[in-house]
Amino acid sequence: MERFPVIRMEKLEGEEREAAMELLRDACENWGFFEILNHGISDELMDEVEKLTKEQYERCREKEFEAFARKALEEERSGGGEAGESMDWESTFYLRHLPTSNMADLPHLNERYKKVMREFASEIDKLAERLLDLLCENLGLEKGYLKKAFYGAKGPTFGTKVSNYPPCPNPDRIKGLRAHTDAGGIILLFQDAEVSGLQLLKDGEWVDVPPLRHSIVINIGDQLEVITNGKYKSVMHRVVAQPDRNRMSIASFYNPGADAVIFPAPALVEKAAEEENEVYPKFVFQDYMNLYVRQKFQAKEPRFEAMKALETVNGQQRPIATS
Ligand code: OGA
Ligand code: NI
Repeated sequence: MERFPVIRMEKLEGEEREAAMELLRDACENWGFFEILNHGISDELMDEVEKLTKEQYERCREKEFEAFARKALEEERSGGGEAGESMDWESTFYLRHLPTSNMADLPHLNERYKKVMREFASEIDKLAERLLDLLCENLGLEKGYLKKAFYGAKGPTFGTKVSNYPPCPNPDRIKGLRAHTDAGGIILLFQDAEVSGLQLLKDGEWVDVPPLRHSIVINIGDQLEVITNGKYKSVMHRVVAQPDRNRMSIASFYNPGADAVIFPAPALVEKAAEEENEVYPKFVFQDYMNLYVRQKFQAKEPRFEAMKALETVNGQQRPIATS
C-alpha cells in the first residue's frame, strides 16, 4: 500500500519545493486527501483548542449524548439492526465565521472558548487561501482563481464543525459518521492526535487517515472536483467510532458563497471531454447544497447529473462555450 501523503509545508519554501509540489499534486489527483505539518498554526494554539474543546464536551455535552445513545441503541435493537444505517454516533455543533458569525448565538460556549476558536478560525482561513493558491499553481490556473471562483457576492462561506465521537458499543453497525463526500470547497481538519477513526475509500478499500500530532488533514470537496473538471476528486470518507475512547475532530469548511456560480475552469476542460460531453455542470452553489442536504450519504454522481439537468432547464449556456 502506498503511504498516506504527508506534506511538510516548510519544504514549499526551500530547495525541495518542486518535490513537495509534486507530492501535493499526486495527493490531490490520487487521494483527494493529504495531511500537512508545519502549516504555520502554532502548537500552543492547537493545544489550547484541543484542551478547551474536550473540556467543553465533558462539561456540556456528554450527558446530552448519553440520552441520545440510550435511545439509539434501543432503536437499533428493536429495528433488527437497520436503524444503525441511518444514524451517526457523533455529538456536534457548528460555528459559522463567514459571511457572518453565529458566535453570539451560542450561549452554551464560554467567552474564553469563543475567543480561542475565533483566533483558530482566522488562522485556518488564511491557511485555506494559501492552499487554494498552491492548488492553482499545480493546476496551471492564475493565482487567486479558486478564491475568486468561491467568492460570489459576499465572499466564501466558512465554518467549523466541532465533533466528538464518543465510545460506541457497536462500531461495526453504527458509524461515527456514515460514508459521504464533502459538498464544498476545501476542508481543513484538526483531528485527535491519539484516537483514530477517519477513513477514506481508496481503490475500493477503507484506508485510515493516521493521527499525527499538530497536523491538519486536508480534503477536496465536490466543488473543487467540478472546477477542476474532475482532475481532482472529492473522495468518500467515514468515521469509525471506537469501542472505548472518545475522538475529537474539528473540521473547517471553506466553501463557496451561496450565490457563487460554480463551473469547470475553461483552462481545464480538454477538447476531447467537451466533444464527449464529459464536462461537469455549471450551477449556483446554493442549488447544489439544497440537493446535498437530502443526499449527503449517497454517491455524488447523481448530484452532478441533477445539476446538469437543471442547467438545461434554465437554458444556461455551457461555460466553455461562453468564455
Ligand atoms: C465531516 C467529516 C470527519 C471527522 O464532518 O464531513 O468528514 O473526522 N468529518 O470528523
Ligand atoms: Ni466529511
